[in-house]
Amino acid sequence: MTSQRSVLVTGASTGIGAACVSRLDQLGYRVFAGVRKPEDGDRLRSAGSDRIVPIRLDVTRSDEIAAAARTLDEAVGPAGLGGLVNNAGIAIGGPIEYLGVEAVRLQFEVNVFGLLAVTQALLPAIRRARGRIINIGSIAGRSVSPFVVPYCMSKYAVEALTDGLRLELAGTRIEVAVVEPGAVKTPIWDKGLDSLGDATRTLPPIAHERYGAKLKFFGKLLRYNDERGVPPEQVVDAVLHALEADRPRTRYLVGRDARIRAFLGRILPDRAGDALLLSVLARLERRLA
Ligand SMILES: NC(=O)c1ccc[n+]([C@@H]2O[C@H](COP(=O)([O-])OP(=O)(O)OC[C@H]3O[C@@H](n4cnc5c(N)ncnc54)[C@H](OP(=O)(O)O)[C@@H]3O)[C@@H](O)[C@H]2O)c1
Repeated sequence: MTSQRSVLVTGASTGIGAACVSRLDQLGYRVFAGVRKPEDGDRLRSAGSDRIVPIRLDVTRSDEIAAAARTLDEAVGPAGLGGLVNNAGIAIGGPIEYLGVEAVRLQFEVNVFGLLAVTQALLPAIRRARGRIINIGSIAGRSVSPFVVPYCMSKYAVEALTDGLRLELAGTRIEVAVVEPGAVKTPIWDKGLDSLGDATRTLPPIAHERYGAKLKFFGKLLRYNDERGVPPEQVVDAVLHALEADRPRTRYLVGRDARIRAFLGRILPDRAGDALLLSVLARLERRLA
């Protein structure tokens, strides 16, 4: 990475974001940790060094984005910002036939528009450092699973945004990469269960008839994925490579499940892919019954 070793991580309170903050801090980076609640910033700071600078940053709030960009600009000065890890994200689930468009909009507000707005606001500082932009996407951005379709839609958009930025910034020496984890053990699974529960409670009776059993299984599947997820540190390894390597990759698959799904997505025609996924899900449904 060129220039001063300063990095902003959004969504730093828990999970992958917190793990990024911790490792980058240990490696001597000056880490700006985007959090929504001051107590999360205090917790990160007390667990690490005083190089950690918590920054209040709800990525859906333009006032907080502007204030964070000003604070960062002053703090890094002419050296600029060496890295931006766009990590903040939520996962909204439920049957797409009955999910309110507002729920899908919220999904995009955080995972896509928030990521874009933060990137735009920080690009002047990133340009000065010829820094790196690392978007935390997901294997869900290449391969869709049922009942988490809004999440998959948002992660497909993150893939397109990453590729587009990389193309438009070609020649600036700013590198742009997307990290595509499979299941990672973080609080997102519990939150996903809550979201699925909320969606299920507000469904009309006909939707329960049509999807009730499947939704129950998907709740169990979230729990199962949580238990089998890789530790967030594996995602941090990819983030570090994207930040530090002389020739960073454009995409980083993390976890065996992500690599298998990406491979199958490349070789299987749609209907064969559907059939395989549905048969794996049916087998899991029997196992988790
Ligand atoms: N866990 C996985 O299996 C997995 C797999 C692939 C990709 N990912 C991606 O990894 C990223 C991090 O997720 P995680 O698994 O570490 O889950 P997590 O522990 O739930 O972390 C999500 C982070 O995003 C923050 N956030 C949510 N809404 C926000 C908003 N409006 N503005 C700013 N921050 C916001 C949360 O802050 P609060 O605490 O304030 O809510 C939290 O810090 C996400 O983009 C997710 O899609 C996760």
